[in-house]
Amino acid sequence: MTLLSKIPAVSATEFRQAMRRPANAVAVIATGAHGTRVGLTMTAVCSLSDSPPSILICIYRESAALGPIRANGCFSVNFLGAEDAGLAAVFAGRDGLRGEDRFAHGDWGIAATGAPVLTSAVASFDCRLDREIDSPSHAVIFGRVEALHLRSETPQPLPEQGLIYCEGSFGRFAPLA
Ligand SMILES: Cc1cc2nc3c(=O)[nH]c(=O)nc-3n(C[C@H](O)[C@H](O)[C@H](O)COP(=O)(O)O)c2cc1C
Repeated sequence: MTLLSKIPAVSATEFRQAMRRPANAVAVIATGAHGTRVGLTMTAVCSLSDSPPSILICIYRESAALGPIRANGCFSVNFLGAEDAGLAAVFAGRDGLRGEDRFAHGDWGIAATGAPVLTSAVASFDCRLDREIDSPSHAVIFGRVEALHLRSETPQPLPEQGLIYCEGSFGRFAPLA
C-alpha cells in the first residue's frame, strides 16, 4: 500500500471550510468602458513576477466579467482599503446589483488601458490580458501590468489600510507589536 492511498478523499465542503481559514487581500477586478463596465470582488489574485510585472487572477467561468475581459483585452486589479468593505459586498453581488449598476458605488476613473480604476484603492494594477489557462470551473487569467495607481499617503500606517477576508468576515491586518 502506498502512502498516497492512505490519504482520505477531501470533500468539496471540507476543502471550502479549510480555505476559509487563511486571510486574503480583497480586490475588485474591473473592465469595460463607461456604461458597459463589469466587475467583481476577488481574493484569488496573485503576484506572479516583477520582470515583467505580472499578476494572475482566478475567475469563475460563469462570471459576467470573463467575456468582457477577453473581449477588451485589459482589466484592473484594485486592492481595497478597509473602509471599502461595503464596496466589496456590492461587487460580490450581495445586494443584487449587476454590471454597470455596481459602479454607482465608489469613485472610478479610467486607467491607461481603458479599464476602470478605483481611486480609493490602496493599490491598483492596470493590466493587459497576456494569456489564459482554463480549468473546469475557473479561468486563470495572466495580466501584464502596464501601470500602477497608489493611494496617496494617509495618517493611518500602510499595513493597516488594506481590506482582508477571513472565515467569512471582512477585517483589517494588525501588525504584531
Ligand atoms: C471575499 C470574496 C472573494 C471572492 N473571490 C472570488 C474569486 O477569487 N473569483 C471569483 O470568480 N469569484 C470570487 N468571488 C465571488 C464573486 O465576487 C461573485 O460571485 C460575484 O457576484 C461575481 O460577479 P458576477 O455575478 O457579475 O459574475 C468572491 C466573493 C467574495 C465575497
